[in-house]
Parts: sequence; C-alpha cells; structure tokens
Amino acid sequence: MKSKIYIGTNTKMYKTIADTVSYLKELKELTADIDRNLMELFVIPSYTALKSARETVSNDIIKIGAQNMCWEDQGQFTGEISPLMLKEIGIDIIEIGHSERRHIFAETDSQLNKKVIAALKHGFTPLLCVGETLEQKQLGISDDCLSIQIKAGLNGVSKDDASKLWIAYEPVWAIGVNGIPATAEYADEKQGVIKNALKELFGEISDDIPVLYGGSVNLDNATKMIRKPNIDGLFIGRSAWDASNFNNIIRQVLPLFLEKRKAS
Ligand code: 13P
Repeated sequence: MKSKIYIGTNTKMYKTIADTVSYLKELKELTADIDRNLMELFVIPSYTALKSARETVSNDIIKIGAQNMCWEDQGQFTGEISPLMLKEIGIDIIEIGHSERRHIFAETDSQLNKKVIAALKHGFTPLLCVGETLEQKQLGISDDCLSIQIKAGLNGVSKDDASKLWIAYEPVWAIGVNGIPATAEYADEKQGVIKNALKELFGEISDDIPVLYGGSVNLDNATKMIRKPNIDGLFIGRSAWDASNFNNIIRQVLPLFLEKRKAS
C-alpha cells in the first residue's frame, strides 16, 4: 500500500504559457491546505510552458513533467528535446509512451525503453504509460500486451532504479473525447496484471512502484477507481484541465484513499 495518492494531469497540446501559469497558480491555491505527505500532485504541460511552469510552483507542491524526451543527450535530432535541456529547467517527471505518442507518432517499445533508461540516468521520474487497444481487447490479448509493454519498456532497468518508476495504465479505447471509461473492476484487474509483470521483473521492490489509472476519469468514476486495491492514483486529462474541477476530484478521492490505506 502506498503512503500517498498519486494524482496528476497531462494537458496534451492544450494551454498556452499564460494558460498554464494561471492554471498552476489556481491549482496551488486551491490545494494549499492538503498535506503533501498524503498526495503527490503533478502537472505535465506543453513544452513551451515548462520553464514558466517550473518558476510558478516548487516541486514539493506540484511536480512538473515533460510529455516526451529524446534518449540522447545531444546530437543531430531535429525537433527533439534533450534530457539536459529538461534538467536545466528543473523538470521532475518524464512521461513516456503515452498512447498518443505510441499510436499517432508510432513510438515503439524499444524507443520507449531507451527513454526510460535515459530518464533514470538523468535522475528524472519516468512515468511509463501502457495500455491495450480496442482490437487487442477484443482479441482477448490485453494481458499479454500489457506484460509485453512493461517488460520491453523496462528492459535493463536495475532493481535499484525500479523504485523510481511510475506506471500509468491507460487503455487506448478509454482515452479522450471518444473514449469509453473502463469500469473500476476492469481497470483494477488489468492493473493487477501490470503489478504481476513488475513483480516478475523486480521482485518485492515492485511494491514501491505506483500504478495509476488514466482514461476518461471524471468526478463520478474517480471515487470508484480509487477504492480499488491495485489503483494507486489517477492520471487525468479533460476533467482536470479546469483547476476547480480538478480540485473537486482531489477532494473526493483523497479521503477514500486514506480509508483504503487505513484498512490495508
Ligand atoms: P482523458 O482523461 O481526457 O481521457 O485523457 C487521459 C489521458 O490521456 C491522460 O494522459
């Protein structure tokens, strides 16, 4: 059982620098009374907003992540962003393998694996996203796909580094405007599959790795999700992009998480 809840948002290709700064200021103010020993709050804005985001909030209040990163430190990689550049502005988390990166931009497990290794090398928290497509679900191969994405994406990660990882389970069919939210039961079961794959790789240390659920999370289903034993946190898109809506979700799920923690 994790000591704190993990809750955050990826703002995708939304929010300008000005939007991001005002969003972060509002979110910081709305959540100011919440003990950060109980909650790891994070926001992953667009690249152009990262420097201003970091200047707006310190990492003990809201961690800031990048939506992508190159595995090389420098070189002839037009359009890519280096770990050194993200280090320079004090980024905490690197989101790796979001379904939109895998499926629109054709990123492969082996590329994502290089990003995980590079993120660890530079002291970032890698947030590896995994999830099956609708077709894979219909073929009954979701569990195999999840295990492959975990084992290929984390290939070569040492046991020492394993406790620095975060994982997000985001079924592709559940994400975005056309997404159908997973039921809490389904998400919990699949997160169990992910946790088993992590245990095969890293043994007991894998208990330290938080596994978050993402995909059409809203005020209603968030409370059902967070009660489930294998769901350590939530990774939210649309429902978190208004700071006050996000704060409402946080206020609903935090007490339920604490109850679950007490009962475990
Ligand atoms: P939605 O909550 O908008 O479905 O997005 C989830 C997501 O992709 C988080 O990374």
